[in-house]
Amino acid sequence: MTTSARRIAIIGTGRIGRAWAIVFARAGFQVNLYDAEPAMREGAVPAIRDSLADLASFGLIDETPDTIAARVTCYPQLADAVRDVVLVQENIAERVDVKRAMFAELDHLTHADTLLASSTSGLPASTFTQGLAGRARCFVAHPVNPPSLVPLVELCGAPWTAPDVLARARALYEEAGQKPVTVEGEISGFLLNRLQGALLDEALSLYEQGYASAADLDTVMRDGLGLRWAFMGPFETIDLNAPGGVADYAQRYAGTYRTIASERMPFDWSPDTLAKLEADRAALLPRTDIETRSRWRDRRLMALLAHRRRDARDADGSDRTEAAEAPADANTTKTADTAEAAQTTKTAKTAKSAKAADN
Ligand SMILES: NC(=O)c1ccc[n+]([C@@H]2O[C@H](COP(=O)([O-])OP(=O)(O)OC[C@H]3O[C@@H](n4cnc5c(N)ncnc54)[C@H](O)[C@@H]3O)[C@@H](O)[C@H]2O)c1
Repeated sequence: MTTSARRIAIIGTGRIGRAWAIVFARAGFQVNLYDAEPAMREGAVPAIRDSLADLASFGLIDETPDTIAARVTCYPQLADAVRDVVLVQENIAERVDVKRAMFAELDHLTHADTLLASSTSGLPASTFTQGLAGRARCFVAHPVNPPSLVPLVELCGAPWTAPDVLARARALYEEAGQKPVTVEGEISGFLLNRLQGALLDEALSLYEQGYASAADLDTVMRDGLGLRWAFMGPFETIDLNAPGGVADYAQRYAGTYRTIASERMPFDWSPDTLAKLEADRAALLPRTDIETRSRWRDRRLMALLAHRRRDARDADGSDRTEAAEAPADANTTKTADTAEAAQTTKTAKTAKSAKAADN
């Protein structure tokens, strides 16, 4: 028996596992699911079908939800779910002992060339794969929640992960429509959470020192930096922010950034400041509305993705979304705005009480 290049196993069918199932099934892969909890297994395919219907309403899938959901099968036994698959994507509890036990089982149950990936948010692969005969095929593939809407996946091997394993993984995630990056060495938080952590640290520190309200700091991101960051990174941003590119930018602004760095006060997660922030946020968004607002967030992400997709297709007929895209023409913008407006109207009622958080 050999592995099938078009069959994937998803272990753990919570938030992340279900979203991964959508990623692979909509790209045409057969997807096998397994979860230790019978209720999670039973709920998985119906929940996946509901999410696919949401994606369909934004034009983000090319087939019907039923056609895509039909590629997903839930198995009551782990051994059946991982039989002959090319990749196992593990999404179980974020505990090193639990992951260690799971990877030992996976190493035993799967073919020697099956890729074994963990979605862990913060555990280095070396902490749960050491001592396994097949440790060279184990690595972290850290997604962003939910991977069905946010395409980035951070690949990070242990010191013993084979380079060709990471190369095969990168090609596979690309084939599934994701945007893999490779982290060259184990480091806490990988790349995304280190960048997010740096920003969060400064935002919390400025808030603690009283330089701005929580709402105004969110506005700085949403109506300032975030607009560019939806389609370019910090390096491309500075390359375009001075006529002579990065070198010119550094010449002009390095002094300012050195001064900022010398004044920086790291945030120590002080309980008093966090209690104040919690009260500020609760005044804008009642805690009971967090679920509703999260669904609103996912729909905004879908609208943004739909826009990026249309924009990329209009630019050159492919699904290109990175740098060097042509700006959207007036018609593209109009179509995207119309779709977004329709969806906004549809969700406005449910998000009404949370809407105050925008102002
Ligand atoms: N939620 C996020 O924002 C996020 C983002 C990136 C990565 N991750 C990582 O993804 C993984 C899953 O997170 P989640 O948010 O989907 O969690 P979750 O609690 O929603 O789902 C975990 C699922 O795993 C199942 N499970 C637990 N132990 C098991 C075992 N031994 N065998 C089989 N099934 C088991 C549970 O029944 C549950 O259904 C974690 O490692 C987490 O760090 C989470």
